Amino acid sequence: MEDIQKIFIGIKVICSALILLIIITFSIYTGLVPINFTSLPTVDLHEIKSEYDVSLLDESPKSKLVKYGFELFQNTPNYIGPNIYDSTKIFSGNNLACSNCHLWAGTKPFSASLVGVVKRFPQYRSREHKLGTIKERINGCMERSMNGSMMPLDSYEMKALVNYLKWIGRNSPKEGEVFGQGFMKINLPNRAVNLENGREIYKVQCVLCHGSKGEGIKEMESNLYLYPPLWGPDSYNNGAGMSRVITAAQFIKGNMPYGVTYESPILSDEDAYDVAGYINQQERPIKINLQFDFPDLNGKPVSTPYPPYNDEFSLKQHQLGPFQPIIAYYKQKFNLVKKK
Ligand code: HEC
Ligand code: HEC
Repeated sequence: MEDIQKIFIGIKVICSALILLIIITFSIYTGLVPINFTSLPTVDLHEIKSEYDVSLLDESPKSKLVKYGFELFQNTPNYIGPNIYDSTKIFSGNNLACSNCHLWAGTKPFSASLVGVVKRFPQYRSREHKLGTIKERINGCMERSMNGSMMPLDSYEMKALVNYLKWIGRNSPKEGEVFGQGFMKINLPNRAVNLENGREIYKVQCVLCHGSKGEGIKEMESNLYLYPPLWGPDSYNNGAGMSRVITAAQFIKGNMPYGVTYESPILSDEDAYDVAGYINQQERPIKINLQFDFPDLNGKPVSTPYPPYNDEFSLKQHQLGPFQPIIAYYKQKFNLVKKK
C-alpha cells in the first residue's frame, strides 16, 4: 500500500514538474508572467518533514489509529467517498481528499495548515454562532468542502482523523498557534474581479492540470485525483470556505500553480484575485439551508457568496467585489474589522 502511494506521489511530482515547466516556458514566451529566474518554484512533495512522517511510527494501536487518520486524510475517497462499496461509510459527496486543500498532509504553511489545530479548539464559530469542537469543525469541511454529510462523532473515521491531527500538532505550543496558519494575506485590489483576466490566467496557469471544464484529472482506474476538480459536480459546494473569493485568492496565491509556496508565489495579488473569482463563478454543487448560516449576520465574511446579508450591497458585489466599500461599511457602522 505504501509502495503504491510512493509510486503515485512519484508520478504526481514528475507530471507536475513537466507541466510547471511548460507553463513557465509558455508564460515567459507570451510575456504574461515576468519570471525572476532566481525564484522559480520547485515541485517537491517530499517537503513533508520527518516530524510528520507516519511511516516512522510503531505498530501500537494508538499509532495504527494515527496512520489510518493519515491514510484517510490523503486518500479520502477510498474510505468515505461516494463510490465505495460499503454504503454505510459514505460521508463525502465528492472525490476530493482533505490534502487537496490542506497540502502536504495538512502540514504546509499557509494552506490552512492543521498543525496545532486540535489545540485551537473548542473555538467560537461565527457560522454557527456558538462554541464549536474540532469534530464539528471537521464536519464543517465534510458538509461543504467535501459536499457530503456529517460523520458520526464517535465513528472510527472521525477518531482517526482527530488523532492524526493531534499527532501532527504534538510539538506545537499549548494554544496551538503556529506559523503558517490560515492563508497568505494579499492586498485586495480596490476593484471588482476582472473575469476576463481570470479566464486568461486560468488558461495560461491552471488549465493543464485542472482541465478546461475545471474537471481535474483522475489517476487511472481510481477514485483519486491526480489533479482535483475546481468546479462541476465533483467539486466543493457553494457553502465551502473556498467558494469565497478572498479565501480562494489567498489559497491560490501561496499554493498554486502547484509547486509554489508562500516564499515563491508566482501570481500577482491581482491575478490570484481574478482567477479565484473566475473559478467561483462556475457551476458547482449547491448546499441547502445556507440561509441558516451565521445567525448573527455581522459575523458573515464579506465575500460569502450567498445571502442574506446585514447590508444593502448587491449579491454580485459580495461575490466579486469591490470589497473595500463593504469592509468600510462594517467598520463605520459596527466597528467590525472584516478580513475575508
Ligand atoms: C476544497 C478545499 C478543502 C477541502 C477538500 C477540505 N478543507 Fe478543511 N478547510 C478548507 C478551508 C478553505 C478552511 C479555512 C476556512 C476558513 O477560513 O473559514 C478549512 C479549515 C479546516 C479546519 C480548521 C482549520 C483552522 O485553522 O481552524 C479543519 C480542522 C479542516 N479544515 C479539516 C478538514 C478535513 C479533515 C478535511 C477532509 C475531510 C478537509 N478539511 C477538507 C478547505 C478545505
Ligand atoms: C502542475 C499542476 C497544477 C497546476 C498548474 C495548478 N494546480 Fe491547482 N492543484 C494541483 C494539485 C496537485 C492540487 C492538490 C494538491 C495536493 O493534493 O497536494 C491542486 C489543488 C488546487 C485547489 C484546491 C483543491 C480543489 O480542487 O479545489 C485549487 C482551488 C487550485 N488547485 C487552484 C488552482 C489555480 C487557480 C491554478 C492556476 C493559477 C492551479 N490550481 C494550477 C495541481 C495544479
